[in-house]
Order: sequence, then structure tokens, then C-alpha cells
Amino acid sequence: MHGVKRGILISFEGVEGSGKTTQAKALVDWLALHKIPNVFVRDPGSTEIGEKIRDILLDRKNRGMHAKCELLLFLAARSQLAYEIMLPALMDKKIVVTDRFSDSTYAYQCYARGLPLRLVTIFNRFAAAGLKPDITFLVDVDAAKRRERGKFTDRMETEAEDYHQKVQHGFLLMARRAKKRYIVLDGKKSIDELHRDVVHHIKEILTRKGYKI
Ligand SMILES: Nc1ncnc2c1ncn2[C@@H]1O[C@H](COP(=O)(O)OP(=O)(O)O)[C@@H](O)[C@H]1O
Ligand SMILES: [Mg+2]
Repeated sequence: MHGVKRGILISFEGVEGSGKTTQAKALVDWLALHKIPNVFVRDPGSTEIGEKIRDILLDRKNRGMHAKCELLLFLAARSQLAYEIMLPALMDKKIVVTDRFSDSTYAYQCYARGLPLRLVTIFNRFAAAGLKPDITFLVDVDAAKRRERGKFTDRMETEAEDYHQKVQHGFLLMARRAKKRYIVLDGKKSIDELHRDVVHHIKEILTRKGYKI
């Protein structure tokens, strides 16, 4: 880790059932195998406070939640995650792998629910301590594939199909706008093929940032 200044923040994004968690965990296992210090988190969640907020967000009893309340809860959980886990880990030169991050907020709350992107961007920057992923993997799958894979039960997952399509569209739009940061993975590929793609990109960024593999 000679010459490494700060850790690397890697996010996995995509709609429900796209395969984010599978790939994020496979990457963390790969990092551990190569003795590269890492931390795996999920957003919302991973802190004690964040997990409680996550329960509120996903509870189907909370159908009446206003879009603004939803946004602020996601940001509250992210804020705790950023300050309690992510920033210290990055200062410690660790690789932080997160299952979802800010782009999920833009895709779900802005592109799909219609909250104003410019305002949410400012709120998010405040909440997320200015943290931005160095690299974002978007697992791109169509609606049919997604349905085939998922068992959808929580409040967010059981939203109408049209909503998930808007989310998917939002992610693809962001990927086009931030080509340098985004890597779009073809979610039709097998789990192993996708993992190989992820590792290929990770090796490149680790080398560039001064890590020894
Ligand atoms: N590339 C893939 N091909 C086939 N099945 C997959 C693939 N990726 C994930 N799966 C399966 O699809 C389901 C959802 O994957 P998961 O990683 O939990 O998605 P997400 O975290 O995006 O909701 C799991 O049962 C997983 O094993
Ligand atoms: Mg998941």
C-alpha cells in the first residue's frame, strides 16, 4: 500500500433483483482473498442507527410515507454510515464496497418519484459528507430478468413495475452522464462472468491508486 493516500469507495447500483448484492459480496471475498483491507456496507444500513432507519423504510406498514420523509430517512441513514464507517475506513486506506449509495437516491427519489434533482443533490452532499464513489458498477437488467430472479416483499420492492422502469432509466442516464466513474455490467451474463468483469476493472483501479495485488 505504498503511496496510497486514501482508500477507494466502490458502489454497486441497479434495480432490485439485478444482482448487486451478489457481485458486491463476491468482490469483498476477492479482496479478502488478496489480503486487501476492505469494508462491506449496505446503504441504508450497516450502522446500528442506519439499520433501524432501514427497517422503517422497508416496512410495508409504512405505505403512507411521504416522498420527502422517505428521502430524508435515506439521507439520515447515509449520513450515519458516512461518518461512522466510510470516512474512517477511507482514511485508513481501506477499500469500501457499498451495496447502493447516492445514485440510488437520485434514481428512486428523483427520477422515479419526481423530487427535484438539484435540491436533492445539495441535501445528499451534506448528508454523505461529500463522499462520492471512485467507481460505480451498474448491473443492467431488463424488467423480465429482474422479475424472474427476485422475491419481492418489502415496501420499496413491491412498488409498481412502471416505477422500477423509471428507476432503471434513471440509472442508465446517470451512467451516460458520468462515463468515467460508471461501469455498466450486462446483467444477463452469469454470476461468474460478471465477477470476472468486476475483478478486471478493480485490478486496474487498485494498480492506478498504488495498491499491490
Ligand atoms: N448474473 C446472474 N445470473 C443469474 N442469477 C443471478 C445473477 N445475479 C444474481 N442472481 C440471483 O438473482 C437473485 C437476486 O440477486 P441479488 O444479488 O440479491 O440482487 P439485488 O441485490 O440487486 O437485489 C439471487 O437469487 C441471485 O442468486
Ligand atoms: Mg440486494
